[in-house]
Amino acid sequence: MSTAPDYTEKIPNNVGLREDRRLQRALESWQPNFLTWWQEMGPTLPTQDVYLRTAINVGRAGWAHFGHVPMKDYRWGIFLAERADGRRIGFGEHQGEPAWQKLPGEYRADLQRLIVIQGDTEPASVEQQRNLGATAPSVYDLRNLFQVNVEEGRHLWAMVYLLHAYFGRAGREEAEQLLHRHSGSTQSPRILGAFNEETPDWLSFFMFTYFTDRDGKYQLGTLKESAFDPLSRTCEFMLKEEAHHMMVGTTGIDRVVERTAQLMVEHETDDAGPHGAIGLHVIQKYLNFHYSVSLDLFGGETSTNVANYYTAGLKGRWLEDRRKDDHKLTDDSIMVDALRDGEIGQIEVAALTGLNTDLRREYTADCQSGVNRWNKILASAGLPHRLKLPHAAFNRKVGAFASIEASPDGELLPAAEWDRRQGQWLPTDVDKTHVRSLMQPVHERGKIAAWIAPPRSGINGKPFDYDYVHLA
Ligand SMILES: [Fe+2]
Ligand SMILES: [Fe+2]
Repeated sequence: MSTAPDYTEKIPNNVGLREDRRLQRALESWQPNFLTWWQEMGPTLPTQDVYLRTAINVGRAGWAHFGHVPMKDYRWGIFLAERADGRRIGFGEHQGEPAWQKLPGEYRADLQRLIVIQGDTEPASVEQQRNLGATAPSVYDLRNLFQVNVEEGRHLWAMVYLLHAYFGRAGREEAEQLLHRHSGSTQSPRILGAFNEETPDWLSFFMFTYFTDRDGKYQLGTLKESAFDPLSRTCEFMLKEEAHHMMVGTTGIDRVVERTAQLMVEHETDDAGPHGAIGLHVIQKYLNFHYSVSLDLFGGETSTNVANYYTAGLKGRWLEDRRKDDHKLTDDSIMVDALRDGEIGQIEVAALTGLNTDLRREYTADCQSGVNRWNKILASAGLPHRLKLPHAAFNRKVGAFASIEASPDGELLPAAEWDRRQGQWLPTDVDKTHVRSLMQPVHERGKIAAWIAPPRSGINGKPFDYDYVHLA
């Protein structure tokens, strides 16, 4: 069901919530728990209001409203992309059949699992980023952080809506659990590893929004293809919001690299660290870390579960409709990373089993475009230095290379050598302490911290020195 957005409701939505009293009541009883979670686990910096984008519609004519709002009064709502009339399933054994508007009983458990895993990442990132406001490099950046945070909150709403609307009591229990698990908790941690890592500084934040939010983009891309239409439409709209998170990461790293390059040139040095910026080698280490833990989010190189999800129509490939094949893949094969006689190599497997690899490859190509962009900044500063993505075998905890250690160039290393050298490639305590020492808050309008360049433009046509945030 899709109706005109209703903003007079307690829960803004375009799913006709008013016509389904039971569902409305269930969600209205979850709402205070969400708000309690937001107060306890959300941003810690006290603010009066923030210049935020709120989703008010899903159509092409414009879906975002900008204005100063107190964050606790943000209108988290339920918005699904408009229903495409006659949408048909694009792949798998149900290819060509009408998309499902109701939940098929046989796929109930699998779909619930997929939704819970996606849903769990959304509040996790808010928790990871909760203390960053205290060290924001500018009011502009502060606003972007909060925008990402409220939208991840809305993504949680999106998943909770599906759980409540289609999965009955089990779904309601899962919705409670999404507020109960916490990032980094020893008793009830978040489901995926990268979402239990700390985001203690702004370089980590930009790396997270570049590399880890980008994983989210690819996962949402596969769910957008789902035969289960409500899931597909939910993810389609989430992807629109996700684009801003990518922008924050991409331009954030642009600006860090730009500032570092400026100081390297100015002081004729390879290390901008002593001059108040983040050394390029430290940026590389952060990149190595965030890229490698994000690769782990794609799961093993091969997966029969994912093959089954695809065949059943639950989860497709990235840009499924642009693929020039039969969309069933039963006769195809793919090369995937593997250990061969203890060496880093590849093996050929059935295309269906290798779907995680297919998705990860799309992701890696996308990540490379960011690296190219940052290298252009270095080149135009006249510097010979370059950043690069580490090898897929580097620092992995999941998949074919979880049991071995490798250098960023993909050279297999004995454990002892890895222990001795990993500080060359991953942030050390010294690096982290230095980065943190730079994180002095700049909460004054129009000013910016010394370790990062200002952005090229502001938000929604406003200038950089606009009063994006009023602190309490
Ligand atoms: Fe999200
Ligand atoms: Fe995101």
